[in-house]
Amino acid sequence: MEMMKECIVCTYADRPETRPLIEGLELQAWPRFMLHGDVRSWHSLFESFADCQLLLCRPNGEILAVGHTVPLFWDGSFAGLPATIEAIIDRAEQGRSERRPANAVSALAAMVDPAQRGHGLSRKIVEEMKALAARRGCGSLIAPVRPTWKSRYPLMPMDRYVAWRRGDGAPFDPWLRVHQSLGARPLGIAPATVTVTGTLDEWREWTGMDFPASGSYVVPGALQPVSIDREQDLGLYQDPNYWMEHAVGPPVSS
Ligand SMILES: CC(C)(COP(=O)(O)OP(=O)(O)OC[C@H]1O[C@@H](n2cnc3c(N)ncnc32)[C@H](O)[C@@H]1OP(=O)(O)O)[C@@H](O)C(=O)NCCC(=O)NCCS
Repeated sequence: MEMMKECIVCTYADRPETRPLIEGLELQAWPRFMLHGDVRSWHSLFESFADCQLLLCRPNGEILAVGHTVPLFWDGSFAGLPATIEAIIDRAEQGRSERRPANAVSALAAMVDPAQRGHGLSRKIVEEMKALAARRGCGSLIAPVRPTWKSRYPLMPMDRYVAWRRGDGAPFDPWLRVHQSLGARPLGIAPATVTVTGTLDEWREWTGMDFPASGSYVVPGALQPVSIDREQDLGLYQDPNYWMEHAVGPPVSS
């Protein structure tokens, strides 16, 4: 765990010069079509919530991992959760402009540099997200978790997939397992946190696949099938997530 010793935690507010590095990580972290979804306000993370964008860095400045979060108000109910990534950011922006105190922090994404994966950095990112929520006096870290192995089982309904367990009772999916092992409880399924629509040409470019007939297609990186309508020249994909909540203790007063 040498790497963990060398790891410095800061935020984008401390290191605004890292934007191109973060965008470079995004290109490696997500299937290409996910970069063309209906998330219009992502720029707000950097402009309005710079101190909620966590960075794990080496002393030389190299970025190992990124954790995107925003502060927002949540009424504590499943029905009160935002339905989409865009709605999470919108609610945070609205709270900020109305000066409404946030009582929760929502995770939006975690990315570990591909060369640094498999060393526990994802746990560290979630722990730092929880610490951020505690520092801000929030009672919860909520997370629309994108189960990383769901893309291997795109035909399995999400409600059945998230219920899969290993022999030891832990969730089958590694990313759900990380959250649960850090104390998260499941809230429920968000069926479409990001919607991606594009022409057939765009889908060909994003996936390297052809779509000779209308119908459902299994596409690498997609958690469920992509629906292709040749007559309308339209491909549609919806990214399902699993809402989880980490209860966060009150900040330790100094
Ligand atoms: C998901 C992601 C953040 C995980 O980061 P990571 O640092 O490699 O993960 P960790 O080393 O902390 O491992 C997490 C768990 O996955 C398991 N795991 C990691 N790599 C694995 C592999 N190749 N095969 C099987 N299990 C693996 C680990 O054993 C661990 O489970 P455990 O705690 O039960 O042992 C990283 O893969 C990533 O950036 N992916 C692209 C973006 C993404 O999908 N983010 C998540 C959705 S927001």
